[in-house]
Amino acid sequence: MVKIAPSILSANFARLEDDIKDVELGGADYIHVDVMDGHFVPNITIGPLIVNAIRPVTKLPLDVHLMIQNPDQYIEDFAKAGADLISVHVEACNHLHRTIQQIKKLGIKTGVVLNPHTPIEMIQHVLEDLDLVLLMTVNPGFGGQTFIPQVLPKIKALSEIIKEKNLSIEIEVDGGVNKETAKLCVEAGATVLVAGSAIYSQKDRHKAISEIRGN
Ligand code: DX5
Ligand code: ZN
Repeated sequence: MVKIAPSILSANFARLEDDIKDVELGGADYIHVDVMDGHFVPNITIGPLIVNAIRPVTKLPLDVHLMIQNPDQYIEDFAKAGADLISVHVEACNHLHRTIQQIKKLGIKTGVVLNPHTPIEMIQHVLEDLDLVLLMTVNPGFGGQTFIPQVLPKIKALSEIIKEKNLSIEIEVDGGVNKETAKLCVEAGATVLVAGSAIYSQKDRHKAISEIRGN
């Protein structure tokens, strides 16, 4: 069954605890935390302080998506704050292999993210070290954007490479995921779906999660 990772970017930040517990009760598998620095993307959001504050309110793994320049400088802070998985953007890493080893050494799960225009060839030589690849289906920076369907063949190609190499790597997709686009992503091979506005804009988040999962 495909996993669902609600993005708290679309939650009410004044009521984060309630909004996290609500999706946990509704069957979410991870809590997706979008970290933006105002440099790598044109928006500023969450730092380690918030990760640390939400850590005790849920048993779900915290899936931390770093949309920041210089991720090496902050990885340890996010791990200490309680991240269970940290994903870094290929486009933000000059020495991707080194950054991946840095995350692995901290004993947490390791993910790499590709923007819509970045080809999967960029990660072919590090695949064996990864727990997850996150394929962006919007240009990162904001919630509520429209899904870019040109990424679908990339999901399929990555899924085939993972199968061929007999690896166990999750394929997560992020951006513009709703009940319609979710279906296309799962058909292409996605195993984890991030959804922000499609869950948090709904009154009944439990129902929204089930619908995105395709139940
Ligand atoms: C975008 C973020 C996403 C965002 C998704 O830069 O990485 O996780 O919250 O929001 P929706 O699901 O509304 O596109
Ligand atoms: Zn994200």
